[in-house]
Amino acid sequence: MSTMQKFVGWIDERFPLTSNWKTHLSEYYAPKNFNFWYFFGSLALLVLVIQIVTGIFLTMNYKPDATLAFASVEYIMNDVEWGWLIRYMHSTGASMFFVVVYLHMFRGLMYGSYRKPRELIWVFGMMIYLALMAEAFMGYLLPWGQMSFWGAQVIISLFGAIPVIGDALSLWIRGDFVVSDATLNRFFAFHVIALPLVLVGLVAAHIIALHEVGSNNPEGIEIKKHKDPVTHIPLDGIPFHPYYSVKDIMGVVVFLMVFSAIVFFAPEMGGWFLEPDNFIPANPFKTPEHIVPLWYFTPFYAILRAVPDKLMGVVGMGAGVMIMFFLPWLDRSKVKSIRYRGTLYKSILTLFIISFIGLGYLGTQAPTPTYTMMARIFSVIYFSFFIFMPWYTKIDKTKPVPERIPE
Ligand code: HEM
Repeated sequence: MSTMQKFVGWIDERFPLTSNWKTHLSEYYAPKNFNFWYFFGSLALLVLVIQIVTGIFLTMNYKPDATLAFASVEYIMNDVEWGWLIRYMHSTGASMFFVVVYLHMFRGLMYGSYRKPRELIWVFGMMIYLALMAEAFMGYLLPWGQMSFWGAQVIISLFGAIPVIGDALSLWIRGDFVVSDATLNRFFAFHVIALPLVLVGLVAAHIIALHEVGSNNPEGIEIKKHKDPVTHIPLDGIPFHPYYSVKDIMGVVVFLMVFSAIVFFAPEMGGWFLEPDNFIPANPFKTPEHIVPLWYFTPFYAILRAVPDKLMGVVGMGAGVMIMFFLPWLDRSKVKSIRYRGTLYKSILTLFIISFIGLGYLGTQAPTPTYTMMARIFSVIYFSFFIFMPWYTKIDKTKPVPERIPE
């Protein structure tokens, strides 16, 4: 027995190292037909790590104080060695997190990955999505630029629309009558420690749930239904390590190429990743002309603005996010994957995607009567996708699903 084997043996007697390695990697059997869409889970993990590591280094020089915050970010950009790189990696990472997560969710939607027995993977995923939105919203206040201040001011005052408790609630969130140093301090605490802890915990739960039931795949076929009678290994499965651990490196390399191109050549992405107004220090006496959240929030922001009544707008915006939780119980189709669904479902899904992207675009624009009308139409399509799902997924003409994954 080699020294290494003896060392691992020593650990195994005290900690389940080998058994966990086997359960989650070398003997975790994943369907053999994963495609490009299956890169985004591991990429989301990568971005989470990038955000935590760059975040730790930013915190070393950032000052969570309303009189110092803006200047401390300038200091990081100009004087801290490699500070500009750390900051641009973190700001680019925030937007890329949403790019990756939206593609990851869309994959789930296409292949019916939220369906039985994977409902909890989806629910944990939605909780991650909520935590991520809170994390991004609070992080955006920290540079204390004009958009940081006014974005927070607008969003927090929305709580004021809630009857009876609204005003007290928004005062309680801010800790002051306007967004102020007190708000900055609490957002800092949530952004650097509370929400990252929640995120990491939820991601762990997400993956534990995934490994309990096993991965879905582009065919939507359950590989556990056909196992080798002797070894009990799924016939259409391959060990995650080394097959997918190596394949995922390919996704990581392509992702890092895109990521570095943005960080080095276009960190502001024409105002989509870092807004021009946020290079101006926060000024409570001067409201910017257009207060617009970053792109990843704009579909919901457009729903908010599409509704004339403030309270109903807030309800609509909240419902727009929360309705996604129920997806596993709304879909009544006989099949999971888009590959075996009928034209009806495919058309409705296409309309839904067009509406979501359309709302995202409209949310970034100043409202005109035409844009408001369009936002209303898209909002109706957005909600109809979910509300009528039990009906149209049932009548959709599906194709027969093969027993085994086709060659
Ligand atoms: C920090 C964010 C997230 C991380 C790190 C993460 C990580 C992962 C990983 C590593 C996998 C397995 C690999 C893969 O199937 O791509 C996975 C699968 C999955 N995730 Fe996520 N995820 C995140 C967010 C979400 C969100 C927001 C949702 C949906 C609301 C979601 C839904 C799913 C589903 C349904 C699966 C199973 C897919 C299948 O087997 O076909 N995830 N996730």
